[in-house]
Amino acid sequence: MVCPPGHYDVRYAINPWMTGHVGDATPDAQRQWERFIELTGCVADVEFVQLSQAEQTPDLVFTANAGLIVGNLAIVSSFRHAERRREQPVFRAALARAGFATTFLQQTYFEGAGDALFDRVRPILYAGYGWRTERGATLQLQEIVGCRVLPLLLADERFYHLDTALCPLASGHVMAYMDAFSPHAQTLLRRAIEPGYLIEVGVDDALRFACNALEIGDAVIMHDCSRRLRERLHAAGYRVFLTELSEFHKAGGSAKCLTLKLEDGPAAGMAVAT
Ligand code: ARG
Repeated sequence: MVCPPGHYDVRYAINPWMTGHVGDATPDAQRQWERFIELTGCVADVEFVQLSQAEQTPDLVFTANAGLIVGNLAIVSSFRHAERRREQPVFRAALARAGFATTFLQQTYFEGAGDALFDRVRPILYAGYGWRTERGATLQLQEIVGCRVLPLLLADERFYHLDTALCPLASGHVMAYMDAFSPHAQTLLRRAIEPGYLIEVGVDDALRFACNALEIGDAVIMHDCSRRLRERLHAAGYRVFLTELSEFHKAGGSAKCLTLKLEDGPAAGMAVAT
C-alpha cells in the first residue's frame, strides 16, 4: 500500500529530522516517489494499492504507519501526535477496503509497521517503543500475534521508529543500527539473532536511512549505502538498488516506510542455517 505525495510537505516537526525543514519539501518529492515506485515495480512482480492524500495529512505518504498486518487482520495505528491522528480514519478505511478486519490497541500509542516488524524466518515480532509506540502496546501485541514479541527500547531520537534502525530480511539476516537501541534491547537482539546473521550498520549508513530499506524478492531498495554494506548485502544474496529519497528524509522517512506490505504475519519458525 502506497500513497503518492500529492500533498506531501513538512508542515510540523514531530521528529528531529523535521526540525529545521518545515516548509522545505520541494516538487522533487513527486519525481523521487515515482522513480522509487517504478523501480519497485521493475525488480519484482508487485501490485500496488494506492491511497490519495488530502491536504491535512502531509505524512500520509508514510503508509508503514497505517497499521500492522497480521494475516487477515490490520491493527490500525493510534498515533502519538495529534498532527498524525487525522490519518487514522483514512488508513482504517483503506485497510477495510483492501479486505482486512480492522482493530485498534486499547489506550496506548502504537504506530503500526513503523514500530513492529516480523522476523522473516524466526517466530519473533520486533516491537520498538519509547518515542512513539508505548511499551504497553508491545504487551497487547503479544496477545494478538501468536509469536514471541521482543520489546525493544529505542534510545536515540533520530531513530524514533523501529524501521529506521532495524530491517529483518527473508534470508534470515537482520540489518541493525545497534546504537539506536538501549543496552538491554541490544542484548535481546544479540540473543535472538545468530552473530552471522546480524548485519551491523554503521552510523553513516544509518543516518542515510540504510535500515529503512525495502526488501522485495532478491532486491533491497534504499536511498544510499556504503560499499561495505552493499558488499555485505551481496554476500547475503541480495541485489542492492539505490534511489534518491532525500525529499522524504526531511520528514524523517525513506524507502521502507513509504510502503506497507499487505501480506504479513509471523514466520513459521523455519530454522536458519548456522
Ligand atoms: N514525519 C513522519 C513522522 O514523524 C515520518 C514517518 C516515517 N515513518 C516510519 N515508519 N519511519 O511520523
